[in-house]
Amino acid sequence: MHTLPLYKNPSLSIDRRVEDLLSRMTLEEKIAQLYQIWARPDNIDEVKAFIRRYGVGSRILAGSNLAGSGQEKALEIEEINEYQRIAVEESRLGIPILFGRDVIHGYRTIFPIPLGMAATFDPELVEQAYTIAAREASSAGVNWSFAPMLDIARDPRWGRIAEGSGEDPYLASQMARAAVLGFQGKDLSDPERILACAKHYIGYGGAEGGRDYNTAEITDVTLRNIYLPPFKAAVEAGVGSVMSAFHDINGEPASGSHYLLTELLKGELKFTGFVISDWASVSELVHHRVVEDERGAARLAFTAGVDMEMVTQTYVNHLKDLVESGEVSLERIDDAVQRILTVKFRLGLFEHPYADATKASQILFSPGHQQVARQIARESMVLLKNQGNLLPLKKTGVKIAVMGPLVNQRAALLGSWTLDGLLHETQTVAEAMQQAAPDAVRLASSDALQDEMLAEAMKADVITFFAGESDGRSGENHNVASIDLPAGQEELIEAIARLGKPLVVVVLAGRPLNLSRVARCADAILYAWHPGSLGAAAIADLLFGEDVPSGKLPASFPRTTGQIPMHYNFNSTGRSFNAVGETSPLEYAYVDRYLDVPGSPLYPFGFGLSYTTFSLSDLSIDRPEIHPDEVICVSVQVTNTGSRPGAEVIQCYVQDCVASITRPVRELKGFTRVYLQPGESQIVTFQLGAEELSFYGADRRRRLEPGMFKVWVGTDSTASLGTTFRVIKS
Ligand code: NOJ
Repeated sequence: MHTLPLYKNPSLSIDRRVEDLLSRMTLEEKIAQLYQIWARPDNIDEVKAFIRRYGVGSRILAGSNLAGSGQEKALEIEEINEYQRIAVEESRLGIPILFGRDVIHGYRTIFPIPLGMAATFDPELVEQAYTIAAREASSAGVNWSFAPMLDIARDPRWGRIAEGSGEDPYLASQMARAAVLGFQGKDLSDPERILACAKHYIGYGGAEGGRDYNTAEITDVTLRNIYLPPFKAAVEAGVGSVMSAFHDINGEPASGSHYLLTELLKGELKFTGFVISDWASVSELVHHRVVEDERGAARLAFTAGVDMEMVTQTYVNHLKDLVESGEVSLERIDDAVQRILTVKFRLGLFEHPYADATKASQILFSPGHQQVARQIARESMVLLKNQGNLLPLKKTGVKIAVMGPLVNQRAALLGSWTLDGLLHETQTVAEAMQQAAPDAVRLASSDALQDEMLAEAMKADVITFFAGESDGRSGENHNVASIDLPAGQEELIEAIARLGKPLVVVVLAGRPLNLSRVARCADAILYAWHPGSLGAAAIADLLFGEDVPSGKLPASFPRTTGQIPMHYNFNSTGRSFNAVGETSPLEYAYVDRYLDVPGSPLYPFGFGLSYTTFSLSDLSIDRPEIHPDEVICVSVQVTNTGSRPGAEVIQCYVQDCVASITRPVRELKGFTRVYLQPGESQIVTFQLGAEELSFYGADRRRRLEPGMFKVWVGTDSTASLGTTFRVIKS
């Protein structure tokens, strides 16, 4: 009788199946699992022959034949299944392939860029968005997304700030968890879930000058307290893969760092998934000049802890020799292969290797998915100014001019990294505005000459001007030296403002821009990021009051490029404010250090207005002191004091007053979105315990140091309603 090999028996434990499979593999087959292959039109036969002979860890779905920019060819599910069939049916052991693709903020239904999603301060809704992204991507044969990007960014010149959650470790951690749970769910073997990848590990956002791929120098204390938390949150949420970054950090390339990958990530954080390099980041170790050649690159990256190599072939070409020469151990090979196989079993790929070609048409861009995209886009937009309650606008009885360089754009709605979103499914702002208020809106097209735009504006009662950046002005290696609006826009806005008509400026952008000049002349400003497929409809919803803005800034908005880096959670200095002591003031102020610009940002982290107003009162703590193993409850009453229903994000900040190392003046440690009717009140409570009050000290250990803490609750990072409590020694 022919018995099934143990690894093919789904009733056995994953560990047992992996062990059995590993024991049957040749060294070549093992090394093939450590390779992510790139099939291009010129190497298809070669790739297929390789898979037939050895199997392969993964195939990256990238390249000009596949990557769309709004209208190109969609992924061919039959083609993906054909590669899978070769692996499963024609290779000796039949190990299925992982198909990886950049599904960054949606697959076909595009959600706001991740920075915009972070501005919702609504992790539950963000989880829903990633659940949809997973459902759509899996229906097209993708079972692994290279997201979420968890790099903290304190420099808006850096184009990749668009792809992450901004400057704050706590907010980014909540978003990391939401994305991982959205992609992977509770059970990775669910066919509608896919593998997530936490990237780019680590400190990639710290690139000097905002220049992508550039060197970062980050002290270990800052690395652990600021850059690590989102990765820790992703690991705790069960993320199955992590991508090592391109850059060099503290003199060591991130893709060659044993300390970062093996000691910190796999050791301290107990990450049991596998690490993939970034695109060619293994072979680029040669360019970093820490190794002489690709053989050296393979040795360094692999022994450092990179389990799978993206696209380049240093592992495939050199690992066998490195094992035979004793420079790389077989144990390390088995460790890496075991990590990758475990994920493949967890995904249920051995039981269900093929994508179902009939599903996609019912799932992609379905009405239900569009509804979530519209809601999250509305929640992501931040109302920065609304003088005289100019917004919301009336839909009838007024003439509203719609103008500016962004009104007829589609790609700029979608933003960076939208390989599979379709332009023809993306309404323009002009179309959405006209649809929302056909009697009021007058289009003054973006290609009109500027003098004609002014003449058109003269005829209107209200002007809405759509400013900002193209989708290609942020994202990978799309950095800017100045965060001012693109050339000419400020002048045009100022010229329009001089007409003396009420002026609303809506900004589409992938980063915080310098709005100082716009803020001086516009009556209202709505910051819309790149809001996704339903972004234009969401903008119209907010401008016409179908919904009330509730987004909050996930990054500080500087007054000028020269203030960068600018973040609210800066460390106490010897000449700051807020000295120690029970009686010290609770106020929070930026110190003026430049002669030519105030020390504060134009808009602080956490800031965002509404069409209604909220007041906070009755801050209380349930006890004046706690032991390190206890939790303190901080409560506040929130009341909607305005005339419209609306949502507000209540934020809780903490300061450790005296510590063994210099600590931030305040740090976000909790937030809650509340939705209140006019006149309605609600008590909001935050719990603070060891997790929120501890930090990594100079000895690299996490510690909660007894002493005084300050706590504030408010609607942005300048919150002034606060009190103090003590943590006492047990
Ligand atoms: C390079 C980028 O840095 C990374 O974020 C992306 O996932 C890979 N390319 C694959 O496209």
